[in-house]
Amino acid sequence: MNIFRKCDDYTLARETQAAGLYPYFVPIEESTATEARIGGDWKIMVGSNNYLGLTHHPAILAAARAALVKYGSGSTGSRLLNGTLALHERLEERLAHFFHKDAALVFTTGYQANLGVIAALIGRDDHVFLDRLDHASIVDGAKLSYGHVHRYPHSDANVLARQLAGFSDDTGKLVVTDGVFSMEGTVADLPAIVAAANAHHSAVLVDEAHAVGVFGPTGAGTAEHFGVSDQVDLIMGTFSKSLASVGGVVAGDESVIHWLRHHSRALIFTASMPPASVAGVLAALDIIEREPERRARLWANTTRVATTLRALGFDIGDSHTPIIPVVVGDLVRTLQLWRALFDDGVFTHPIVPPAVPPTSCRLRVSMSAEHSDEQIDRVLGAFDRVARLMAAA
Ligand SMILES: Cc1ncc(COP(=O)(O)O)c(C=O)c1O
Repeated sequence: MNIFRKCDDYTLARETQAAGLYPYFVPIEESTATEARIGGDWKIMVGSNNYLGLTHHPAILAAARAALVKYGSGSTGSRLLNGTLALHERLEERLAHFFHKDAALVFTTGYQANLGVIAALIGRDDHVFLDRLDHASIVDGAKLSYGHVHRYPHSDANVLARQLAGFSDDTGKLVVTDGVFSMEGTVADLPAIVAAANAHHSAVLVDEAHAVGVFGPTGAGTAEHFGVSDQVDLIMGTFSKSLASVGGVVAGDESVIHWLRHHSRALIFTASMPPASVAGVLAALDIIEREPERRARLWANTTRVATTLRALGFDIGDSHTPIIPVVVGDLVRTLQLWRALFDDGVFTHPIVPPAVPPTSCRLRVSMSAEHSDEQIDRVLGAFDRVARLMAAA
């Protein structure tokens, strides 16, 4: 029974709960695109990934409802067997076009997309090169593969090039990077990363989870933003952020997608995306196409909040995206700031070890196109009040 000893010994979460500073698994009773009711009180949500604010859009809800009625509540099977609906195929065609690729493959979650692509493609003799700050699903996909895993310092294409140069041109190599890094709000230096990969005959996979709907002339992400979509072999995306649903996708050459359809275990050995979610993503893509002004509004909100937080003296790191980290440092002070803001009606996320080093604990603030000027005033007012109180304490 040794395996359970660690469970009995684990006291940190209960101690944090007892101190009133526990920030996780907060049950939301009701929500709008920008607010959540918790414990009976409405909080302004600046802790979601609802960048375009589409989760409650009437056209998406109507499309999801119609699919629910037409196809039922679940697919009850794997894509390979009875779980492929005409809707999945329509979404794949649409996403291939969206990402400027030949073909696309839809997974049940974004996490599974990374697992299913990396673990399938990287064999025993292959090498995969990851940014040190890549998302856990990328790290887990690499671990699950039988290949050799290398990490390079955050966005450092020079070190990456040196690592790649250590292996012959006919070695199987794949570089995987987030387009936008979810905890820092930084953007990958894709032109330099692609150049290093090209020079050393490596394939490239970019995870556009936080970039879809946010970057690029049509909202396709950082590869489109930098004009390198044709030099990135595989583009991965999630539906759980700007696309207001749940699910994941990888887009690339037809032969690669065809191979993944038949070899990706995270695709084959799980039930497919439910119909209502698929229909919701299709409707969200229509809105992204029809309403580019949402992206403009998101960036206007982001600029306003980032500029004001800096002016108030907060350290927001090197963020140039709607993800704005407010670096506090110490764990307890970070939790105290989180709690004070929560009590003041603002929902943020504390980011603490192991996600970040112990001395750079932070709050993560993320903006939405749907935040109103008045909501932003309230958020900034709360930060100002709380910072003064903490400085005086
Ligand atoms: C960069 C990145 N990739 C992949 C994922 C996994 O996506 P999902 O939550 O849709 O499974 C996330 C989500 O947290 C993410 O931030």
